Parts: sequence; C-alpha cells; structure tokens
Amino acid sequence: MFFASDNGGPVHPQIMQAIAAANDGHVLSYGNDPLTQQAVEMIRELFEAPEAVVRLVATGTAANALILSTMAQPWQTIFCTPLAHIHADECNAPELFTGGAKLTLTGTDGAKMTPDTLGQAITRIGWRGINAPQPGAVSLTQVTEMGTLYTLDELKALSAIARAHDLPVHLDGARFANACAALGCTAAEMTWKAGIDAVSFGGTKNGCMAVEAAVFFDPAVAREFDLRRKRGAHLFSKHRYLAAQMQGYLQDGLWLDLARMANERAAQLATGLRAAGVDFVCEPQANMIFARLPRSEHQRLMSGGGVYYTEDGDPWHGPDDEMLMGRFVCDWSVTEDDVDRFLQLVTG
Ligand SMILES: Cc1ncc(COP(=O)(O)O)c(C=O)c1O
Repeated sequence: MFFASDNGGPVHPQIMQAIAAANDGHVLSYGNDPLTQQAVEMIRELFEAPEAVVRLVATGTAANALILSTMAQPWQTIFCTPLAHIHADECNAPELFTGGAKLTLTGTDGAKMTPDTLGQAITRIGWRGINAPQPGAVSLTQVTEMGTLYTLDELKALSAIARAHDLPVHLDGARFANACAALGCTAAEMTWKAGIDAVSFGGTKNGCMAVEAAVFFDPAVAREFDLRRKRGAHLFSKHRYLAAQMQGYLQDGLWLDLARMANERAAQLATGLRAAGVDFVCEPQANMIFARLPRSEHQRLMSGGGVYYTEDGDPWHGPDDEMLMGRFVCDWSVTEDDVDRFLQLVTG
C-alpha cells in the first residue's frame, strides 16, 4: 500500500535487462558509445524530431536546471507556478545553474497558469526597463504538481503568449508519459507541435533507475548545453548505463504501458475514495491524487499500513479533526490488490 511517490517503486525488469545487456566489454565513455546514439535516435523518433538535441542526465532537477540555464540569463526571470518543482523542490538549483536568474510565480488553480495570468505577469515586469528582472523563459509542468493536466489547447495558448513576448518555453515532464497516456496524444503533440522549445523527459518515476532526457527542438543550443552539463558535474562518464535505461524504457512502447498502468491504479484509487466520500483538492487526471482527510483518519490509515505523505501538516501532531491534504501517487508497480486493500482500510 505504497502511495508515497512514483520514485518509490522498483525498476521494471525490461529496463534492468537492458542495463545488464549493456554491461559487457569496453565502450567509449561520456556518451560516445553506440548505445547512447541508439537511445538518442529512439527519443528523436518518439518526438518525431530528427534534428532534436537529446542529452541524458540522472535527475529531473539536473534536466530542469540545465535546460533553464540555456534559456535564461542571470538578469532574467523564469515564469512558473508557485507549486512548480523548479520553485518549491529544487533547492534553488535553477537559480544556481542560471547564474542568478529568478523565478516569477504566476497562476495557482490546480498548479496551472493561464494565458491571462502568464500574460499579466510578463507585462507587469516587462515594461519596467533596466531596474527590473528581464523576462527570460516560461516553465510549465505536465503532469502538474497537483496531478492535473494542461490540455493541448492550453499548452498552445500559453506558448503563444510566451512567443508573443519572445520567450522560450520549457516543459518539466517528470511525468511526461503519464500525461501522454492520460491525454491520448503523441510526444510531438505535447511538445513542439504545441510550441514547447525544450522538455525534461522523465524516466525515473516511470520504471527507470535514474535517467531523464533533456530534449531541445532547436539544435543551436547543443554546444552550450554540453558545456553547462559538464561544468555542472552532470556528464556521466559511464554513459552507456543511462542510455541502456532509456533504450529499455522506450523499447516496444514500454514507457507508455507503464504510465497507463500507473494511471489506471490511480483511477481505481480515486473511484474508491470518491465512493467513500473523500474530498479531492482537484480532480485527479493522471497518477496523483490530493485528498483532504482529518488528521485522525490519516493516523488510522498510516498505522494500518498506508504509506503516503501529507502536504500541509504533520499527520502525527495537532488536533485530531484538522483537515490535512494527503498525496497519493501510483507508480507502474502498484497492484489492483494494493489499491483494494487500501480502500478496505479507508472504508473500515
Ligand atoms: C514535477 C517534478 N519535476 C521534477 C522532478 C525531478 O526531481 P529529481 O531531481 O528528484 O529527480 C520531480 C520529482 O519529484 C517532480 O515531481
């Protein structure tokens, strides 16, 4: 009954096998090996972008911060939501890697921004001249940090606003596969066809061991990214093991199958919680559910073996009847039985 994070699950056997298969003999290091080239080509094919620059790193924070460092200068600002992982959960890595660019927060509803909130945030800063932070880039998250989704039209509308102000758009796709599975769209439709310039394409949360791809649709940034990745200590020498994960992940559509499995388990959990009268903070759309329960109920569920986090308060200290927001995340390995057992616990 593990719903704490989609990082908490095991590596999928197909990916483990790909790593084991790569573990033979000598190859050139730092990404100059055939497996890296193969993984790059598979990602280009997935995104229908033969010219895309694809680089592998081991964490989502590295992918986000390094991509953003190529998009924003130290005197600029990056527009994101208050709940954006780059703002709330990366210990200021984007500010560090950009050499001091700041983040400007806009939008809140379900961790999304709207064309209006984004447009207003840009114009509020943009007209002020040399004393103000200069608009630099826009960063969106899909699936959002609240488990919601931007529709393709919403992504297009936001990137159109960014484009009107000459700003590039980054997509934090730590849960990219879950979003594609939920929207039933292609990787290309959710990125460059919707005006996205670069994406952090996640693997770790969806069955890989530790790999994310930075994908740029403008090849001009390749050299700068490479220098920044090395200087930022994120160029792996034994690169084939990152590549092997991506190759195993993409082989035969595994990436999408795993995301569908995770989304289905979250839908099963949401249906059961709803039937039990539990209130959702926002409508679950992929593999994460945010639900309000009294502290005493969290204590009962956690003592009964449910593993998950509360987001806005300590579940063990405070008034019994205080409502706390629980975060329930399903990864590919959560079973129907896990969800059933947890729901039995909920209904007592
Ligand atoms: C929205 C989002 N972006 C990025 C990440 C990547 O984080 P990490 O650097 O821990 O791999 C996460 C992981 O929690 C996330 O939820």
